[in-house]
Amino acid sequence: MSVTRFRGTQFLLLPIFFVLYTNTGFWVGASSTQELLRGFTATPDSSVSSFQSLLSDSTGNYSLGFLRVNRTQLALVVLHVPSSEQLWIANTTRLPRWSKPTRLFFNGSLVISDPHTRVFWSSNTDGDRVLLSNTSNIQIQKLDDSHSVIWQSFDFPTDTLVENQNFTSTMTLVSSNGLYYMRLGSNFIGLYAKFKEGSNSDQIYLKHKAMEAKAHIIDGQGPIYALLNSDGFLGMYQNESALVDVQAFSSFQQTGSGIRRVRIEPDGNLKGYYWTGSSWILDYQAISDTCELPSSCGSFGLCQPGRDCSCLDNRTEHNSGRCVSPEDSYGDFCSSDDNKYVVLRRNGVELPYKELMRYEEMASLEACESACDINCTCWGVVYSNTSGFCYRIDYPIQTLVGVGDETKVGYFKMREGAGKEKVDVGLRTGIGLLCGAVLVFGGVVGFGLYKLWRRKRGVSGYVEDDGGLGVGPYKGLGSASFSSIELGER
Ligand SMILES: *[C@@H]1O[C@H](CO)[C@@H](O)[C@H](O)[C@H]1NC(C)=O
Ligand SMILES: *[C@@H]1O[C@H](CO)[C@@H](O)[C@H](O)[C@H]1NC(C)=O
Ligand SMILES: *[C@@H]1O[C@H](CO)[C@@H](O)[C@H](O)[C@H]1NC(C)=O
Ligand SMILES: *[C@@H]1O[C@H](CO)[C@@H](O)[C@H](O)[C@H]1NC(C)=O
Ligand SMILES: *[C@@H]1O[C@H](CO)[C@@H](O)[C@H](O)[C@H]1NC(C)=O
Ligand SMILES: *[C@@H]1O[C@H](CO)[C@@H](O)[C@H](O)[C@H]1NC(C)=O
Ligand SMILES: *[C@@H]1O[C@H](CO)[C@@H](O)[C@H](O)[C@H]1NC(C)=O
Ligand SMILES: *[C@@H]1O[C@H](CO)[C@@H](O)[C@H](O)[C@H]1NC(C)=O
Repeated sequence: MSVTRFRGTQFLLLPIFFVLYTNTGFWVGASSTQELLRGFTATPDSSVSSFQSLLSDSTGNYSLGFLRVNRTQLALVVLHVPSSEQLWIANTTRLPRWSKPTRLFFNGSLVISDPHTRVFWSSNTDGDRVLLSNTSNIQIQKLDDSHSVIWQSFDFPTDTLVENQNFTSTMTLVSSNGLYYMRLGSNFIGLYAKFKEGSNSDQIYLKHKAMEAKAHIIDGQGPIYALLNSDGFLGMYQNESALVDVQAFSSFQQTGSGIRRVRIEPDGNLKGYYWTGSSWILDYQAISDTCELPSSCGSFGLCQPGRDCSCLDNRTEHNSGRCVSPEDSYGDFCSSDDNKYVVLRRNGVELPYKELMRYEEMASLEACESACDINCTCWGVVYSNTSGFCYRIDYPIQTLVGVGDETKVGYFKMREGAGKEKVDVGLRTGIGLLCGAVLVFGGVVGFGLYKLWRRKRGVSGYVEDDGGLGVGPYKGLGSASFSSIELGER
């Protein structure tokens, strides 16, 4: 869906996706049909506040429909109805508006369009009907003898895989913020981070190689695929009889009728869930240690096991969930108007996925640092004095892990002025408070003079006004300015 749209501004737009994912109070129409035939058309209903169901499966557990996003936009999604969990989202180039000209129709293709503008998304098929299977798969069929399926949503996963949904080497599972994705290699499942816009050197941060305990991967037998097995494991297969790897979940081989799903989360973890009939329980996570996540404390963050997030720059506090603003953790230092940086060093730090990073052996920390210093695409290095390994970071610095070993040294480039944000806010708050105080003081003094003047002139009746005028607004102003400061700092 709008994953593409978020690529460019992923950090800034996180809250928007958050809204998408925290929608509550779903409405699913009882009138929802179980098949769509050629000629079907639907438009968003202005009275619906969250979800408008258009097609249901035979059990009523799943529904395809319009989900309201940011109040004014819509996404075409498949929901697990009892939990409102989104299992699939049509990958539109951008989100259409929740208003009449937007419509979903089926003319052989399932199409979301706005006649005034364009087609937002299309299945590009020539089918006869649309069904939603009792496993949440949207299928477009031909009404021929075999009812052949010519298109299915399982072939275009979003961030979620459900039981028995084939994940092949041509597919990508993308987290809702567009930052992380899962892809298959020749013999492994890889998780990757897009830490730098437009670069094709995405960082792999988890590589699960097939153990090949039950069967071996044989060259020329085709690529491997992954599948969430009903027995409670994520399997890698070369073909149905060649199970080359098993990642068992907590509920492995437990009997029960609950459904399962795995999802690549906005924090980069891959998690497995099991439906108990009333809630989803966490059944598996690829990364169990928070500090091992690709960026658990955000850009320029420091993760220390068992402690709260802090910042690499110990003069900065990890308050509002980050250490530098998004503008200061973007791009590189190659353009002439944006090439200034200050150097930050920190001992006792390590990259969370250093086993998957390339390194060069260097004789000294100085050699390692200067290799980074002279290259404008380099954001920093981490050097191990004992091994001589120099790890080079070619994207905005993410979270490092604090380790006891002080001989592991980090050298990081920070944009000039980065981290000063808090000071600025503090300064602005201070000035604001001062101005407020001056105003209030002026008001009080002025009112006192006015009272004096009125008393001197012997005007009666001012006593009743006193309480309301003098103290009230002063108190009100005081508390209002404090609460707005608190909000502003968040
Ligand atoms: C949902 O599916 C389960 C089987 O997984 C079934 O037992 C249940 O009745 C279904 N729920 C509804 C509302 O049909
Ligand atoms: C269905 O509508 C789309 C968008 O208007 C159009 O591009 C496509 O050719 C149509 N398909 C068929 C089979 O008529
Ligand atoms: C789902 O559909 C299949 C046939 O497509 C059927 O065999 C199975 O029993 C159905 N499961 C449920 C829970 O309805
Ligand atoms: C959506 O489409 C874009 C290209 O148009 C692609 O880069 C992106 O990975 C897709 N998203 C998903 C979840 O497949
Ligand atoms: C998954 O894909 C593989 C290879 O394309 C195929 O052999 C297998 O039958 C598929 N399994 C399912 C459950 O669709
Ligand atoms: C911050 O780091 C610098 C350099 O590593 C160190 O000299 C200083 O003592 C640290 N300050 C605090 C408050 O930890
Ligand atoms: C800078 O680093 C990049 C990425 O490693 C490399 O491709 C480029 O050649 C380097 N440039 C210089 C001047 O060393
Ligand atoms: C790094 O190692 C060298 C010799 O191997 C030693 O002289 C130096 O003190 C070490 N530096 C640090 C920071 O531990």
